[in-house]
Amino acid sequence: MANKVNHIAIVMDGNGRWAQNRGRQRIAGHERGAEIVRDITTFCSDHKEIKQLTLYAFSTENWKRPALEVEFLMKLLGKYLKKELPFYLNNNVKFKAIGDISKFSRKLQKIITATEEQTKKCTGLTQSLALNYGARNELVRAVNRIDKPCCEVTENDIASALDCKKDVDLFIRTGGDHRLSNYLLWQSAYAELFFTDTLWPDFTSVELESIISDFRTIERRFGGIK
Ligand code: FPP
Repeated sequence: MANKVNHIAIVMDGNGRWAQNRGRQRIAGHERGAEIVRDITTFCSDHKEIKQLTLYAFSTENWKRPALEVEFLMKLLGKYLKKELPFYLNNNVKFKAIGDISKFSRKLQKIITATEEQTKKCTGLTQSLALNYGARNELVRAVNRIDKPCCEVTENDIASALDCKKDVDLFIRTGGDHRLSNYLLWQSAYAELFFTDTLWPDFTSVELESIISDFRTIERRFGGIK
C-alpha cells in the first residue's frame, strides 16, 4: 500500500542565493521566500491527507548572521503573521511556533502567541514555524521539563515533552545541500529524506507533488522487514 504523508518538514534554504543571482540583496530572497511559504501551506492545506507542515524559519544558529539580516527576518516574521491571520482562519489552518521564542522581542512574542491563540480552534492543517529552533536545544528543554523522580524516563516522556510531538514522514531540504542542520532530529528518526537543488524561492507545489509521489513508492520498514 502507498505511504501516507501526514507530517512534512522543510528546510527552506537558498533565499540568499536566489536574491544574489538576481543582483539583489539577500533580504529580497527572504521576502520572496515568505510568499512561497503561503503557496506551499495552501497546497498542504488543500491536500487533506497532510496534517502538519513544519517549516524551518529561523534557527538557533541564525543569530550569527549580520544584524541587519536578523532584524529584517524578525520584522518580516511579524508582518507575515499579522497578514496571514485571515488566511489561517479562512483555511482552517492552526498556527504553532516551535523553538525558544523567549529570545525574541516582546512585541514579536506577542504576535506569535496571539496568532497561536486565534487559530487554536482550527482543525485542518497545522502549520508549525520553527523559530529560534534547534533540535538539540529542543531536546535539552524537553529533558529539563520532565519531572519524574520516581522512575526511569522513557521515549514517550521525551517525545511528549518536545515542542514538536509528531514524527516526520517526509523531510525536504531545498537549496542543494545535503544536511539536517539540527532540524527535528528526534522526530525524523524514520523520516524519508529528499534533497532538491531548487532554491526555496523557486520551489513550487508542482515539485512538492512530485516529491510526494516518489515518497509514496518507497518501502518504509521502520527497522523491520517486509
Ligand atoms: C535559508 O536561506 C533561509 C532562512 C535562514 C530563513 C527562512 C526564511 C524564509 C523562508 C522567509 C521568512 C519566513 C516566514 C515564515 C516569514 P539562506 O538565507 O541560508 O539562503 P542561502 O543558503 O542561499 O544563503
